[in-house]
Amino acid sequence: MKLNKFINQLNPNKQPQTGQEEEWSKALAAGIVSVKDIIAPPAIEVDFDFVKIGSTYYRTLFVIGYPRYVQANWLSPLINFEHTLITSMFVYPTEAKGVLDDLKRKITEMEATITADIQHGHVIDPAVQAALDDAQVLQDELVKGQERFFQFGLYVTIPAESLEELDTISKQVESTLGSLSLVPKHATLQMEEAYKTTLPEGTDHLYITRNMDTTSLATTFPFTSSSLTSNTGVMYGINEHNGSLVIFDRFTQENANSVVFAKSGAGKSYMVKLEALRSLMFGTEVIVIDPEEEYKSLAEAIGGEYISFDFDSPAKINPFDLSGVYEEDENELGLKILSLHGFLKVVMGKLTPTEDAIIDRALVATYKAKGITPDPTTQKKEPPLMEDLYKALIGMEEPQAKGLADRLEKFVKGSLIGIFNQQSNMDIKNTFTVFSVKNLEEELRPIAMHLILDFIWTRVKNDIKKRLLIVDEAWYMMQHADSATFMYSIAKRARKYYLGLTTISQDVEDVLANDYGKAIVTNSSIQILLKQSPASIDKIAQVFYLSEGEKHLLLASDVGEGIFFAGPHHVAIRVIASADEHALVTTNPKELLEMRQKSEDVLKQFEEPTPEQPQATVQPQEPILTEQIQPVPPISQNSTGNQPANQPQPTPNLTQNRQ
Ligand SMILES: Nc1ncnc2c1ncn2[C@@H]1O[C@H](COP(=O)(O)OP(=O)(O)O)[C@@H](O)[C@H]1O
Ligand SMILES: [Mg+2]
Repeated sequence: MKLNKFINQLNPNKQPQTGQEEEWSKALAAGIVSVKDIIAPPAIEVDFDFVKIGSTYYRTLFVIGYPRYVQANWLSPLINFEHTLITSMFVYPTEAKGVLDDLKRKITEMEATITADIQHGHVIDPAVQAALDDAQVLQDELVKGQERFFQFGLYVTIPAESLEELDTISKQVESTLGSLSLVPKHATLQMEEAYKTTLPEGTDHLYITRNMDTTSLATTFPFTSSSLTSNTGVMYGINEHNGSLVIFDRFTQENANSVVFAKSGAGKSYMVKLEALRSLMFGTEVIVIDPEEEYKSLAEAIGGEYISFDFDSPAKINPFDLSGVYEEDENELGLKILSLHGFLKVVMGKLTPTEDAIIDRALVATYKAKGITPDPTTQKKEPPLMEDLYKALIGMEEPQAKGLADRLEKFVKGSLIGIFNQQSNMDIKNTFTVFSVKNLEEELRPIAMHLILDFIWTRVKNDIKKRLLIVDEAWYMMQHADSATFMYSIAKRARKYYLGLTTISQDVEDVLANDYGKAIVTNSSIQILLKQSPASIDKIAQVFYLSEGEKHLLLASDVGEGIFFAGPHHVAIRVIASADEHALVTTNPKELLEMRQKSEDVLKQFEEPTPEQPQATVQPQEPILTEQIQPVPPISQNSTGNQPANQPQPTPNLTQNRQ
């Protein structure tokens, strides 16, 4: 703003300026620094092969040769180049009429060349033949109006701090463009115009263009390099394509379920543990069914609850528990009996229709004997136990009922007593709760997993919170059609209860062989595929509509690498953890042993502190150690004198032991 105008604004009543006053304000304005002065570079040097603006060198390339065929996103290597580049594209629509006239002339020329070759007995130039074919196809499409015609210009400016760097990067850019079958040239002697062409002004000072039809032009659109970065959610990993972060909030999708498939050891549990850990920080409650005891150390380290479900453990779950929540148009008891049917089929094996009918009557009678009926007010009473069902079956007249009772007997009297035949005595109170079935026999695991899942589902319905339910090694459940049905029903209804179900499996065959398994996949907004085995890749490719490239990626990926599908987005992902997270989630036995060894060494050092003991082995930043060792003021005499100030001090109980 001119100063005199500014002064006038300050004092609107002021008389118009006299000639002398105007001169003064001009003199004053001449000495004022404007925005232009502030942002302008100190100097611009235009050389024949670069421009130097301030201390930065710039070189602009233009493209004269283009490949014959291009695919979608073919310019992505340029866009994702590892150095800042300024890229400008100019698209000029052209009248089809003029182009058609030109094309006709060109086609006639090329046909004449070919005819002449034939007449003279020469071999036809294949380049001319190819160009003729292209021109004819284009002519055809333009006439029909299928394609439109454009002129396209592509310019790339490379900034660099020094001339050497400029030369090196120019070479790299040229070879990248070369690998795309593009032919770039330096805008020699026109560097200033060329540089201005790539400024965000939208003016093409060079006008070096090439013909393109609509399809080819569409494929040059460079920003299809997929990225999945939202403002909310947790980080899943790094986008392998362009190095961006994959940040995603599964609760923003139509359902919050996810499936993770990969061969054993590909990093499924690792990735899901990281997700759980990161989601916890945003107030999501996490419940895990862990058949392999892989989540124990994580649960212990973050103050979660780890419930081992086996004969000796005090934790009990009664399959007959009712949620006690009454919902409009839902018959709670009816649903429970349906779910018990599924459970009992997993427990007892196949049932004939007659046996099924008997079980149904027996279940109704069992609940009724405890005063529980479809009336919701009765459903707060103490639920029956497995032995009540057993007694109900024994008491029935049908001969098959006896057989059914026999099949149930081992759970109420025999070897398996005490695990499925007691009232539930626990609740999910912790924000991170893990149920383990590792200590159960292999054939009991699916039963226990079903039972636990049912228990969790009851609790989830009771008290709605943002939750993740992780079922690791879900193929245990998928082996049984009834458990698979149950998983599917949870996947379908989870959204209503603010629950995200994570289904993890290494046995893709087992999951996908089953219609319910496939339905779980379609009911999961997020699908994560890590390394696959050659045996299962075709099945996976079929279910997830993978391209050949994606198939190869999954066969060749390393641990923690794969593809992340979220709705319509696919990104190649690499799962990474910080060092502290890694220490919490790894199951690598070598690393675990090393960590245990380290912590033992340190504990030993506290017990017998000797001056020779190398101080370097003490690493207070090791997460396991920080969990266990609370620094306290020095107490014991022999440990104070020769220790550096930052040395962690013995824990009180260790010191007491010594005294
Ligand atoms: N992204 C990763 N970075 C580093 N190590 C990993 C990664 N994913 C997995 N691992 C390591 O690979 C091993 C197998 O991982 P795990 O998650 O147990 O496999 P899965 O559950 O698929 O069988 C573990 O020792 C784990 O620490
Ligand atoms: Mg695992």
